[in-house]
Amino acid sequence: MVNEIDSVLECGSGLSTVFLEVMKRETLLSKSLTLEHSVQWWTHVKSVLAKHQLGDESIALCPLAGNWFDLNPLKPQHKGFYDLILIDSPPSRTSPEGRYPALAKLKDFIRSGTWIILDDFNREHEQNIVQSWLREYPIALIEKVSIDTGLAVMRWI
Ligand SMILES: C[S@@+](CC[C@H](N)C(=O)[O-])C[C@H]1O[C@@H](n2cnc3c(N)ncnc32)[C@H](O)[C@@H]1O
Repeated sequence: MVNEIDSVLECGSGLSTVFLEVMKRETLLSKSLTLEHSVQWWTHVKSVLAKHQLGDESIALCPLAGNWFDLNPLKPQHKGFYDLILIDSPPSRTSPEGRYPALAKLKDFIRSGTWIILDDFNREHEQNIVQSWLREYPIALIEKVSIDTGLAVMRWI
């Protein structure tokens, strides 16, 4: 899987965003996009990137519009397909099944073969979301990882 991934879209910024920028600097990745809804957290993560002289053009401030990120702030260079979508936000406190809209809202970024990883799969709400997705979309559940908060690894067929 690792060798197949050249572009990553993540929902929710943090240490993972720093890691993605380092991967791009080391030419292990060509493209990334991070959606962040919180202006305070977005400002903080950008300051960490700046401190380490890493790029910050790929972290987009996308406030929540209802349950999902407003994608209007995205720039033309953010558009296109991604090889891997990491869903680690919106946080559960904003809405327990708030990550359910992810596949519908991100359809323009997904194509056949795109990997989709949902974090926090040890939670019942995330398990319900995956059950719904498996019924509604052409995706396969490839692996369930139970360590830490759990991950569901899926692939668009
Ligand atoms: C689980 S975090 C995303 C973490 C990131 N994907 C990573 O693995 O490093 C999900 C969201 O929680 C919020 N968040 C996380 N830590 C926070 C903090 N210390 N203060 C405020 N918001 C925080 C941010 O909005 C973030 O996008």
